[in-house]
Amino acid sequence: MANVAVVGAQWGDEGKGKIVDWLCERADMVVRFQGGHNAGHTLVIDGKIYKLALLPSGVVRPGKMAIIGNGVVVDPWALVGEIERVAQQGLKITPENLRVADNASLILPLHRDLDAYREDTNKGIKIGTTRRGIGPAYEDKVGRRAIRVCDLADAGVLEQKVEGLLAHHNALRRGLGRDEIDGGQLLAELKAIAPRILPFMDQSWKLIDEARKSGQRILFEGAQAFLLDIDHGTYPYVTSSNTVAAQAATGSGTGMRGVGYVLGIAKAYTTRVGGGPFPTELEDEVGRGLLARGNEYGTNTGRPRRCGWFDAVLVRQAITIGGIDGIALTKLDVLDGMKEVRICTGYRLGTTSLDRFPAGMAEQGRVEPVYETLPGWTQSTRGARSFAELPAEAIKYVRRVEELIGAPVALLSTSPEREDTILMRDPFRD
Ligand code: GDP
Ligand code: IMO
Ligand code: MG
Repeated sequence: MANVAVVGAQWGDEGKGKIVDWLCERADMVVRFQGGHNAGHTLVIDGKIYKLALLPSGVVRPGKMAIIGNGVVVDPWALVGEIERVAQQGLKITPENLRVADNASLILPLHRDLDAYREDTNKGIKIGTTRRGIGPAYEDKVGRRAIRVCDLADAGVLEQKVEGLLAHHNALRRGLGRDEIDGGQLLAELKAIAPRILPFMDQSWKLIDEARKSGQRILFEGAQAFLLDIDHGTYPYVTSSNTVAAQAATGSGTGMRGVGYVLGIAKAYTTRVGGGPFPTELEDEVGRGLLARGNEYGTNTGRPRRCGWFDAVLVRQAITIGGIDGIALTKLDVLDGMKEVRICTGYRLGTTSLDRFPAGMAEQGRVEPVYETLPGWTQSTRGARSFAELPAEAIKYVRRVEELIGAPVALLSTSPEREDTILMRDPFRD
């Protein structure tokens, strides 16, 4: 029985939350392994909408253990806020159903502040981050300065770490002409939030190991997506973590064989939020139609998402590099009613034809998509729960996508609702 990792195969917001929630019925444990509250995962269950950022999507189902793994950067105030927010929707989050890795690094207010400052003052490359402090927090982690969850339990270590961290940050802040951070105040803030976090702290790698050994099924929930991966994405327009499924192992503390099946999530078209190259972007009526019908606004930030045609080159690259076994194709219904639909099958760069996405920033910005046009469909696919309900043209589209990306479609999603999902191959059994 394979454990499954769910990862984004485009630029994020593919519907990972919906698919993780749906698959979770078949799982016992759900583990987040990278990113932080830059993620925004929307779940719709019988019309009730849940918006999750840091909490694994398994928390909406009773009896499942949710884990925030060591690869996640945890903003303790955001976590407490989210727990309180979902409590108002009737979800009780306790150590019975949530654990946080003791060795996860923290996002502090100074990270958020630095993220926003850079976004506001950067004159060159505009990343368009979520301003949640993700990049600066990962910088401190790799710089070996980070404060980790376990440090909250040790006043002596905490004080020493705050001092070390501020030696770096205050030097930086002085250089930028910004106010220095008061160590005593930061320490007091951390001591005040610690009792809200520490009850959830655990050696999560051990829980995962025990779950594996007792035959439980584990779902690893990716945030962001392949094209936002720090190594493989559209650098520097990326997030600051590895988003590919291999990160599920290091970001949760399980061996390479901990993940059996990698399910990539892709929309039936493409979206991106923030800056950076996007070869199939449509800045016309068709793009605006996708934005409106797909309700393409950021789950947490509310920013409108840029929209374009499905790019088979990029998804094929995500499949190859990320070791994706099958795809969940979402938002097929958003293409309903279009006269024709297009798929990008390659690029042109000047006089050269490309079947891959180049690594250079300038080239990524210059490639011109080469399209294949397929007939659209007039019937509605919205809410379809079996393949047989789909119009012939929609089936043709799905089959052509499979051919071009070189992987099977294991699941199809036809609306935001949990149950409007078509299972073609069970990732847990494949
Ligand atoms: P995530 O970040 O990958 O979890 O995706 P988001 O939740 O940020 O964005 C996906 C959006 O599409 C959410 O509003 C979902 O409710 C919605 N959604 C998911 N699947 C479908 C689908 O098949 N059809 C439609 N119309 N909406 C969907
Ligand atoms: P989910 O999990 C879409 C984008 C930001 C920005 C870049 C860097 O909901 O799919 P960051 O704040 O991470 O430093 O921003 O990455 N980004 C996302 N785009 N979905 C997400 O998460 C994203 N998380 C970050 O818009 O371009
Ligand atoms: Mg999202």
